[in-house]
Amino acid sequence: MARLIVAGAAGRMGRILTSLIVQQPAHSLAGAVEAKGVKAVGSDAGEVAGVGTLNVRITEDYAAIATPDTVTLDFTNATASLEHLAIAAAKGAAIVIGSTGFTAEMEARARELAPRTRTLIAPNMSIGINVLIRLVSEAAKLLGGFDAEVLEIHHRTKIDAPSGTALALGRAVAAARGQDFQKAAVFGREGITGARPEGQIGVMALRGGDAVGDHTVIFAGQGERLELIHRTQSREALASGALKAAAWLEHQANGLYSIRDVLGL
Ligand SMILES: NC(=O)c1ccc[n+]([C@@H]2O[C@H](COP(=O)([O-])OP(=O)(O)OC[C@H]3O[C@@H](n4cnc5c(N)ncnc54)[C@H](O)[C@@H]3O)[C@@H](O)[C@H]2O)c1
Repeated sequence: MARLIVAGAAGRMGRILTSLIVQQPAHSLAGAVEAKGVKAVGSDAGEVAGVGTLNVRITEDYAAIATPDTVTLDFTNATASLEHLAIAAAKGAAIVIGSTGFTAEMEARARELAPRTRTLIAPNMSIGINVLIRLVSEAAKLLGGFDAEVLEIHHRTKIDAPSGTALALGRAVAAARGQDFQKAAVFGREGITGARPEGQIGVMALRGGDAVGDHTVIFAGQGERLELIHRTQSREALASGALKAAAWLEHQANGLYSIRDVLGL
């Protein structure tokens, strides 16, 4: 049985994770963490998630509960996840990070810390998105002369843009075409931009309402367009992917893994 810790327990993903964990006999909730000073600290994680009392108090002290026999599911934010990764690495606890919004420096630090324990970092836990990334990579190779644009829409409260998934899709196009993504990417356009440079990869972020997350990759050629679209209809798909990842990660050797390792993609 995987002993799971939910970091960000009062958040949207955290509450869904808690509710899924209690439904699955293969998992148990070993702990729940929230940010210092947040109202939910000290409350019962089950009550916060709306699934009744579980006798697991939400703590603000992750270091006190991270042990080698636990797997942490971290859906907080990039800064908090990096702090948790450092603690997990020091304690030998396994950690699945779903948070997005890592800067290049933060990614470098995460790559340095991750191999010291069992770490899985995935900006999107859904099987559909991970199949999309593979299809996009194939399409980018097959449609060499086509212009690639990535478009995403998320709910109005998302704090980072573009989404980690949009970046992963853009990177998949760049890698398939032997390009440096940072050099090829343009994030939004405005004013007299001039003609579209060859090889540019556009990444556009829309925000509004309660959209869980839709991603479209457009390959535009002369007289035709291919559009590959994925729509996330509920956070349960993402949360259950994270639980699958946790169960898989528990039994791996130290190292940095991705969700594609779990799905065999
Ligand atoms: N990988 C995926 O499939 C996937 C899916 C959905 C969301 N996300 C990402 O996960 C993150 C969380 O998303 P959300 O919609 O649940 O956000 P949210 O704002 O609803 O929840 C985040 C929670 O983390 C808590 N938090 C902040 N700092 C903390 C700390 N130091 N320790 C413990 N808890 C802390 C906040 O108080 C909040 O309750 C975002 O980065 C989002 O982009 C990833």
